[in-house]
Amino acid sequence: MLNSDNLTLLLKVNGTQHTLQIDPRVTLLDALREKIGLTGTKKGCDRGQCGACTVLVDGRRINSCLTLAVMYQETEITTIEELAKGEELHPMQAAFIKHDGFQCGYCTPGQIMSAVGLLAEGCPSDDAEIKECMSGNICRCSAYPGIVAAIQEVRQMGSFESNMRS
Ligand code: FES
Ligand code: FES
Repeated sequence: MLNSDNLTLLLKVNGTQHTLQIDPRVTLLDALREKIGLTGTKKGCDRGQCGACTVLVDGRRINSCLTLAVMYQETEITTIEELAKGEELHPMQAAFIKHDGFQCGYCTPGQIMSAVGLLAEGCPSDDAEIKECMSGNICRCSAYPGIVAAIQEVRQMGSFESNMRS
């Protein structure tokens, strides 16, 4: 098979610069998981429908399966691995645990990254509006009530960015 890893790419992920030899057709999701080894970001549908692959780019949430890694040389990419600081969980991670915001957990990294992105965008206070804003993240276990409760708790704390790299 032809080796097409013919592009040198610099990606800044969680504050660390990575130099990758990469096929220009590789998605950001596959670059994170297969090239850098950050497997916290999950591949669910691989076609933009489930949100399991959500990461932050310059603080904004995106589906990393729908976009190419080569587009992100000048950006700050944040994945779920960045949220906890050692043993200290990010407030959103702690709230998901407290409110049973997951069951199998497969959607959870994407849900948490999307929730963190939503709060940075200016989270609505109404449950129905939060559900709408989180509608790109699907949970096959239907942990939605716990997810909304977790987001509400962190929204009310108002200090959700306290241990995010800016
Ligand atoms: S894996 Fe990207 S949206 Fe489903
Ligand atoms: S907790 Fe299982 S898919 Fe969401």
